[in-house]
Amino acid sequence: MKIAIAGTGYVGLVSAVVLAHVGHHVVCVDVDETKIEQLKKGICPIHEPDLPELMTENFCRLAFTTDYAAAYSDKDIIFIAVGTPEKVDGSANMSYVYAVAEQIAASVTRDCVVVVKSTVPIGTNEKVEQHLKKHLKRDVAIEVVSNPEFLSQGTAIKDMLHGSRIVVGTDSESARRVIASIYENLDQPVIFTDRRSAEMIKYASNDFLALKISYINEIANICEVLGANVVDVARGMGMDPRIGDKFLRAGIGYGGSCFPKDTKALHWLGNFHDQELKTVKAAIEVNENQKLRLIKKARKYYSSFEGITVAVLGLTFKPGTDDLREAPSLANIPILLDDGAKVKAYDPCGVENFKRKVSGDIVYCATPEETLRDADICFILTEWPEVMELQPNHFLTMRRPIILDGRNCYDPGLMGDYPLIYDSIGRTIISNLD
Ligand code: UDX
Repeated sequence: MKIAIAGTGYVGLVSAVVLAHVGHHVVCVDVDETKIEQLKKGICPIHEPDLPELMTENFCRLAFTTDYAAAYSDKDIIFIAVGTPEKVDGSANMSYVYAVAEQIAASVTRDCVVVVKSTVPIGTNEKVEQHLKKHLKRDVAIEVVSNPEFLSQGTAIKDMLHGSRIVVGTDSESARRVIASIYENLDQPVIFTDRRSAEMIKYASNDFLALKISYINEIANICEVLGANVVDVARGMGMDPRIGDKFLRAGIGYGGSCFPKDTKALHWLGNFHDQELKTVKAAIEVNENQKLRLIKKARKYYSSFEGITVAVLGLTFKPGTDDLREAPSLANIPILLDDGAKVKAYDPCGVENFKRKVSGDIVYCATPEETLRDADICFILTEWPEVMELQPNHFLTMRRPIILDGRNCYDPGLMGDYPLIYDSIGRTIISNLD
């Protein structure tokens, strides 16, 4: 099979490398010339564990170009894996998807299957098909298939190689066979359905996971008031197979490129069709508040942050990535700075990206230990291994060891033996300071 992939973001590049790994020849297309030049030299432009190694290993089956016409003209399968960013009103911006569809229509010289991998509103595959038909230059047949991607940043390669399912949405028997054949070396169940249901599976899955997180975060908040421990509560809930133990980690809310965007997009779509999704709306609202949970906690200890040194551990939306999209750090640090705090920050991967988004009185430190020294309070925003490995005594170099842990990194029992305040999410506060 000759394959082209439009878009070299997380989904496009990981898909290309994994498909090359299972033996296919893949041409990756992007409008970003700098990125394509880097990729041609074998430089991986995104921080993703195992991706650079797998890319190097399969480089002979990968090609990179900005010349879409040459790339699309003779392919059996063309994946669309470009972004669908959030618009101001919460709906998905589909302009990149349709631009690629037009380029494909202008370039193909033979029958092919166009696979929509981008997360798209329900009904988009049909619109892509209409778009292709309208702009086709030659008499060729194109099938449009929905094949959403479920990979998570930080574990993208593992997720794609060993995913829970491959979803294929099409009514065409021949297209089903083509798509099944490219994935035959990946040992995963394939679910065939129609295009609209495939599109909905992606949104419904992401929104359900977001909802699960917001639910456990609300339970955590009430656990704090009632003296229960949310970690034990989640463990006890998760042992029920009807609930499941995943995505029940309470914290300071979800971020990233998918949950915030996909909850808003489905909520927008529901409203557009006069079917408001009230549970999704609640998940969004709970998450917005939860992101500022540590600020609320900090106000118990300092009525103003003027002149206070705040140690922030973690900037990215989760560990294992340099991605800052919708990260709690972007909501918290500007508030601290506006209120006159001096911020010291640590993140093993996200500093350069953070500097591009937020400016102000921030000192970036090379280690968590250096960040903590002489601080008046600590905000833990990302559970990086380097942060999880800290011992209680590491916090004693702070001027006032007040630890606000937004990711429940430590055992409160251990913290209880030290002269500090340990205020985490959904668990009793340890308070050993005067
Ligand atoms: C998510 C989906 O998991 C993936 O299937 C989809 O394709 C893209 O969106 P990703 O955003 O990369 O992946 O990361 P994920 O691990 O799902 O975490 C998203 C956010 O939820 C992070 O901010 C994380 O900290 C938070 N989270 C996750 C929790 O707060 N609690 C949990 O129990 C799990």
